[in-house]
Amino acid sequence: MNPLDDAQLAHAAALLRDAHHVMVLTGAGISAESGIPTFRDPLTGLWFNYRPEDLATPDAFDRDPRKVTQWYDERRVKVLQCQPNPGHLALVELEQRLTGERAGPSPAPTRAGPSPAPAAPTTSRFHLFTQNVDRLHQRAGSRNVLELHGALESWRCTQCGLVQEEWGDLLGQYPPRCHCGGIRRPDIVWFGEPLPTRVLDAAQQALMCCDLFLAVGTSGQVYPAAGLIDQAILSNTAVIEINAEPTPFTPHVTHHFRGKAGQILPLLINAT
Ligand code: OAD
Repeated sequence: MNPLDDAQLAHAAALLRDAHHVMVLTGAGISAESGIPTFRDPLTGLWFNYRPEDLATPDAFDRDPRKVTQWYDERRVKVLQCQPNPGHLALVELEQRLTGERAGPSPAPTRAGPSPAPAAPTTSRFHLFTQNVDRLHQRAGSRNVLELHGALESWRCTQCGLVQEEWGDLLGQYPPRCHCGGIRRPDIVWFGEPLPTRVLDAAQQALMCCDLFLAVGTSGQVYPAAGLIDQAILSNTAVIEINAEPTPFTPHVTHHFRGKAGQILPLLINAT
């Protein structure tokens, strides 16, 4: 059943079909149907059940590296049991249509894990930026994924800076140690830390050339990522929002679809 307004769907699909450059920003909502909790949903959200200042700040790590690294490692292993859902797959389809490139095979998580995605060339017609740290876009087959907040599989030594990926069982030792003796931390952006410059620069370039912006499953409360939606709206780019609930951006976007990304994205992309 199509739960959407047909005229609105047809207009949004036409925007998507005619777009030369599409920029997508995803948040935790796109992975909710894969069984991964969001951050701010009542009852189930991670920040509803844990205090971010105890787990997601440099101070929290300095105070209790054991607790912080164990929490992230347990999340990493839980997420590895989850699978991409139809929302992730619809974005793979959209990328293929816009770039003409076939998706790579969905890599099964292995010790080595999928190789990090290259930054999309600025000439690409499709840019997918995600705030998610779950790598489900890559596992679905999306090729050009830019991670604004890092990834659960990526761990960085606080002493020598070595970044290594972990795709296996629980690390078991908390905090985990690098071969140099330093403590390893999740290579994830915590509150108060800067986002990777390379990814932010790519986002600015993508914003300059995109004529359609798709915001999927993000509450739009965390900056600078949410600022990308602000910028798209301010520059009069067409913005389509897909979210289970209204967000601060909802009144200002071109189209907003209320509901599950795993249902709406396939409907939208199939309608193009
Ligand atoms: P939030 O938890 O803040 O927002 C998730 C959004 O998804 C909410 O607006 C929900 O209504 C919506 N939602 C839930 N289920 C959905 C579904 N099935 N389909 C569509 N929408 C759905 O998550 P983010 O906006 O991603 O930072 O949060 C941003 C950042 O805050 C995260 O990246 C994380 C967190 O602190 C770091 O980990 C660095």
